[in-house]
Amino acid sequence: MKFSCGTRFAFLALFLFALQSVCVYAGSFHKDVQIHWGDGRGKIHDNEGKLLSLSLDKSSGSGFQSNQEFLYGKAEVQMKLVPGNSAGTVTTFYLKAPGTMWDEIDFEFLGNISGHPYTLHTNVYTKGTGDKEQQFHLWFDPTLGFHTYCITWNPQRIIFTVDGIPIREFKNSESIGIPFPKDQPMRVYASLWEAEHWATRGGLEKTDWSKAPFTAFYRNYNVEGCVWANGKSSCPANSPWFTQTLDKSGIDKVKWAQSKYMVYNYCTDTKRFPKGVPKVCT
Ligand SMILES: *[C@@H]1O[C@H](CO)[C@@H](O)[C@H](O)[C@H]1NC(C)=O
Repeated sequence: MKFSCGTRFAFLALFLFALQSVCVYAGSFHKDVQIHWGDGRGKIHDNEGKLLSLSLDKSSGSGFQSNQEFLYGKAEVQMKLVPGNSAGTVTTFYLKAPGTMWDEIDFEFLGNISGHPYTLHTNVYTKGTGDKEQQFHLWFDPTLGFHTYCITWNPQRIIFTVDGIPIREFKNSESIGIPFPKDQPMRVYASLWEAEHWATRGGLEKTDWSKAPFTAFYRNYNVEGCVWANGKSSCPANSPWFTQTLDKSGIDKVKWAQSKYMVYNYCTDTKRFPKGVPKVCT
């Protein structure tokens, strides 16, 4: 059999594509995480460890944590949230260090009554202090399919993205005295829990336990970072996330998300900060 030039090119392209797929890091829930909470309410559904579900009923929620700790990294997962009446439920994906002076970077999805939008809550804690909340509604229904949520944490900035669209950037502003998470390794966590009081504006809506158990799905867990071991971190070579910035188009996307979908911004909450909004905002 003789291959035409076109066919040979197609084989080459296929080969390069296959090679690339092998090189791209892809995580496995079996290998990378422990379901540390929920007494059987968290489950991995397949041999490759691509799909995991967490559930919540009246007696408990559930959650998983990464086996490794990271000092800087990129944590990405696809999530499909609790459908229908999810009021009072909170589904999370976040990074957190232990202790009372902890650092934390949060995605938290606050459920709502049927037909009303979820709120995506984001926050950054440094040394136990958060108070940097920005909340969004999404431009899609997060219960109908999987969407990709990603936290990029590097020495210069933290970037939150949804389906590849940056919605928030928290810059390292240590030069003006704003603490930045930079010396405590964090683990990746996810959970589904009940927070009726917090998540529904002071308990305005009640969790409808007749709909329990509530279930959220996580897929394609993909975390790469500077792994912390024996008091030291080692970063993988050639990691684009380590120096990632937002270019003009990235900044425009953040502006788009914030102008169209942001429903709360600590930086404009003058009632909460009567003496002036935090310095990091200005
Ligand atoms: C539920 O939906 C209403 C709008 O219909 C919205 O004002 C409220 O913030 C939502 N609650 C949460 C927790 O997202």
